[in-house]
Amino acid sequence: MSECFTVTVEESGAQFSCLDGERVLIAMEHQGLKHIPIGCRGGGCGTCRVRVTGGRYRTRKMSRAQVSEIDEQTGYALACRLIPESDLTLRLAGDGPGV
Ligand code: FES
Repeated sequence: MSECFTVTVEESGAQFSCLDGERVLIAMEHQGLKHIPIGCRGGGCGTCRVRVTGGRYRTRKMSRAQVSEIDEQTGYALACRLIPESDLTLRLAGDGPGV
Protein backbone atom coordinates (compact mmCIF):
# COMPACT_ATOMS: atom_id res chain seq x y z
CA MET A 1 0.00 0.00 0.00
CA SER A 2 1.44 3.37 -0.92
CA GLU A 3 1.77 6.09 1.66
CA CYS A 4 -0.32 9.23 1.60
CA PHE A 5 1.11 12.56 2.70
CA THR A 6 -0.61 15.80 3.64
CA VAL A 7 0.43 19.00 1.86
CA THR A 8 -0.34 22.29 3.63
CA VAL A 9 -0.29 25.67 1.90
CA GLU A 10 0.85 28.12 4.57
CA GLU A 11 -0.87 31.26 3.31
CA SER A 12 -4.36 29.78 3.21
CA GLY A 13 -3.97 26.86 5.59
CA ALA A 14 -5.42 24.72 2.80
CA GLN A 15 -4.55 21.03 2.90
CA PHE A 16 -4.74 18.20 0.42
CA SER A 17 -3.36 14.70 0.18
CA CYS A 18 -0.62 13.44 -2.10
CA LEU A 19 0.23 9.78 -2.62
CA ASP A 20 3.79 8.52 -2.39
CA GLY A 21 5.42 9.12 -5.77
CA GLU A 22 2.75 11.56 -6.94
CA ARG A 23 3.57 15.15 -7.91
CA VAL A 24 2.07 17.79 -5.62
CA LEU A 25 0.45 19.90 -8.34
CA ILE A 26 -1.08 16.90 -10.10
CA ALA A 27 -2.44 15.48 -6.84
CA MET A 28 -4.03 18.83 -6.05
CA GLU A 29 -5.55 19.10 -9.51
CA HIS A 30 -6.98 15.56 -9.32
CA GLN A 31 -8.82 16.61 -6.19
CA GLY A 32 -10.34 19.57 -8.04
CA LEU A 33 -8.43 22.13 -5.97
CA LYS A 34 -6.69 25.35 -7.00
CA HIS A 35 -4.54 26.22 -4.02
CA ILE A 36 -1.39 26.46 -6.18
CA PRO A 37 -1.51 28.17 -9.61
CA ILE A 38 -1.41 25.68 -12.50
CA GLY A 39 0.56 26.31 -15.68
CA CYS A 40 2.44 24.01 -18.06
CA ARG A 41 2.65 21.07 -15.58
CA GLY A 42 6.02 20.28 -17.11
CA GLY A 43 8.58 22.19 -15.04
CA GLY A 44 9.09 25.04 -17.49
CA CYS A 45 6.85 28.03 -16.81
CA GLY A 46 7.34 28.74 -13.11
CA THR A 47 3.65 29.37 -12.44
CA CYS A 48 3.54 26.68 -9.75
CA ARG A 49 6.73 27.85 -8.01
CA VAL A 50 6.67 27.27 -4.25
CA ARG A 51 9.05 27.31 -1.32
CA VAL A 52 8.95 24.24 0.86
CA THR A 53 9.13 25.30 4.52
CA GLY A 54 8.74 21.90 6.13
CA GLY A 55 9.08 18.23 5.28
CA ARG A 56 11.17 15.98 3.06
CA TYR A 57 10.81 15.79 -0.70
CA ARG A 58 12.51 15.11 -3.99
CA THR A 59 12.12 16.82 -7.34
CA ARG A 60 12.20 15.90 -10.98
CA LYS A 61 14.01 18.06 -13.52
CA MET A 62 13.12 21.74 -13.18
CA SER A 63 13.89 24.71 -15.44
CA ARG A 64 16.99 26.53 -14.15
CA ALA A 65 15.36 29.74 -15.35
CA GLN A 66 12.67 29.18 -12.73
CA VAL A 67 14.63 27.53 -9.93
CA SER A 68 18.35 28.29 -9.71
CA GLU A 69 20.74 25.99 -7.86
CA ILE A 70 20.73 28.37 -4.89
CA ASP A 71 16.94 28.52 -4.98
CA GLU A 72 16.84 24.74 -4.97
CA GLN A 73 19.16 24.55 -1.97
CA THR A 74 16.95 26.97 -0.06
CA GLY A 75 13.74 25.05 -0.61
CA TYR A 76 12.30 26.51 -3.81
CA ALA A 77 10.71 24.03 -6.17
CA LEU A 78 8.10 23.71 -8.88
CA ALA A 79 5.00 21.99 -7.52
CA CYS A 80 4.51 20.11 -10.80
CA ARG A 81 7.94 18.49 -10.23
CA LEU A 82 7.70 18.13 -6.47
CA ILE A 83 7.27 14.70 -4.87
CA PRO A 84 6.75 14.53 -1.10
CA GLU A 85 8.62 12.03 1.07
CA SER A 86 6.81 13.19 4.23
CA ASP A 87 4.02 15.63 5.06
CA LEU A 88 4.93 18.98 3.48
CA THR A 89 4.34 22.62 4.28
CA LEU A 90 4.92 25.15 1.52
CA ARG A 91 4.41 28.78 0.56
CA LEU A 92 3.48 30.12 -2.86
CA ALA A 93 6.47 31.73 -4.61
CA GLY A 94 5.23 32.22 -8.15
CA ASP A 95 6.76 35.65 -8.74
CA GLY A 96 9.99 34.37 -10.19
CA PRO A 97 13.49 33.56 -8.93
CA GLY A 98 14.73 35.20 -5.78
CA VAL A 99 11.30 35.92 -4.32
S1 FES B 1 3.11 24.40 -13.98
FE1 FES B 1 4.70 25.20 -15.25
S2 FES B 1 6.48 24.87 -14.05
FE2 FES B 1 4.92 23.89 -12.91
